[in-house]
Amino acid sequence: MTAQLDPRGDVAVLVPAAGAGVRLGPGAPKALRLLAGEPLLVHAVRRIAAAPSVHTIVVAAPATEVEAVRAMLAPVAPVTVVPGGAERQASVAAALAAVPAGPEIVLVHDAARALTPPHLVESVAAAVRDGHDAVIPVLPVVDTIKEVDATERVLGTVDRSALRSVQTPQGFRRSVLVAAHRSAGDALTDDAGLVEKQGIAVTCVPGSELALKITRPFDLALAEHLLTTGA
Ligand code: CTP
Ligand code: MG
Repeated sequence: MTAQLDPRGDVAVLVPAAGAGVRLGPGAPKALRLLAGEPLLVHAVRRIAAAPSVHTIVVAAPATEVEAVRAMLAPVAPVTVVPGGAERQASVAAALAAVPAGPEIVLVHDAARALTPPHLVESVAAAVRDGHDAVIPVLPVVDTIKEVDATERVLGTVDRSALRSVQTPQGFRRSVLVAAHRSAGDALTDDAGLVEKQGIAVTCVPGSELALKITRPFDLALAEHLLTTGA
């Protein structure tokens, strides 16, 4: 059954899903790889659509797969699918351009974080609704972190208590994200980075271990295990 999005919702979620998945190894574009028999993107969109505040979902798909992705997602939730770009930032910009008038909160969420629970979408959106311009879900860094030089010689140990590992969905007041993308320069791996460059404060909320990014084959195996044990 197709999930219904709430027309009274105030949140648009952009889903960059146009990457190749080079680190996952040879095969289909990452968002289309199967996890427990369904494409990663289906898992991701199903969870986004289950978040009650979501009004609109825009997916940036690999340019050659736009029609296939539309057909694949039609039974999952009402979504707009646009062709992505060569870099993640271009994919996000393409999706942002397709958001209809209405939602004043825009979240950007990697398709690769396929098991992200709906409550994380809600908590990021709620923090933006509470007045924060830019909100990121984070986890503490668990490993000891060393800084090294080009020859892998250790230069020092970084104080990890001040470090955070950043996830998605990242949430923004719509006008803030639009302005950040308009003045975007070099490609960054996250949208909050663009906003930081504008001198705008970025606020952290607690992330979720289930929002792990499926990057390497190990992550796919872990996600598969988590799904079969109830995630
Ligand atoms: N992404 C995108 N457009 C791109 C590159 C990445 O929409 N040109 C998306 C990916 O589909 C993914 C998210 O951005 O959902 C995070 O990127 P990453 O995990 O790096 O995925 P890939 O770029 O596909 O993987 P790799 O870097 O291993 O090729
Ligand atoms: Mg990538």
